Amino acid sequence: MSDDFVIDVTRIRDQVRQKMDEGPVTGTYGHDPKRVIGVLNDVVATEVVCWLRYTRHAIAASGIDRAQVSAEFTEHAKEELDHGLRAAERISQLGGDPDFDPAKLAQRSHTDYTTPPDDDLKQMLRDNLEAERIVIATYQEIIRWLGDGDPTTRRLMESILEEEEDHADDLVDLLGI
Ligand SMILES: [Fe+2]
Ligand SMILES: [Fe+2]
Repeated sequence: MSDDFVIDVTRIRDQVRQKMDEGPVTGTYGHDPKRVIGVLNDVVATEVVCWLRYTRHAIAASGIDRAQVSAEFTEHAKEELDHGLRAAERISQLGGDPDFDPAKLAQRSHTDYTTPPDDDLKQMLRDNLEAERIVIATYQEIIRWLGDGDPTTRRLMESILEEEEDHADDLVDLLGI
């Protein structure tokens, strides 16, 4: 530890005792928790829509390459649901309420729910690649916005982003582009 780095533990101890009901959110939290909760709720909506789209495509897919494509969609679907649940857990930690209201999910999602013809695997792959590229771009923006004001949410989003980039790469491989 450098000589000029001093933590005023006495002040911090006094501060944290004042708002014990805020749990992990302390005076050093570098954002407005309400705004972060709002952004995370849009992530929840996005992930649920991605889970629905992949699940639908996995079940509907038909044709000679069905098995391979459907297996990939099923795997991605599982991970999208996990992303949504992790974002929802973080919302709860920050003192918010995760919003799973189906009536509002599609409006808040960054990506669309699409229904290409069952035998058009290429279009399914393209729709999902487009969605992955959208979330890669929007999650990068969220990560930059979070900066160092909320390292835990930023790490969560970074870990989700890493998987989205993997998903996009898988889809490019299957599309052969
Ligand atoms: Fe995801
Ligand atoms: Fe994804």
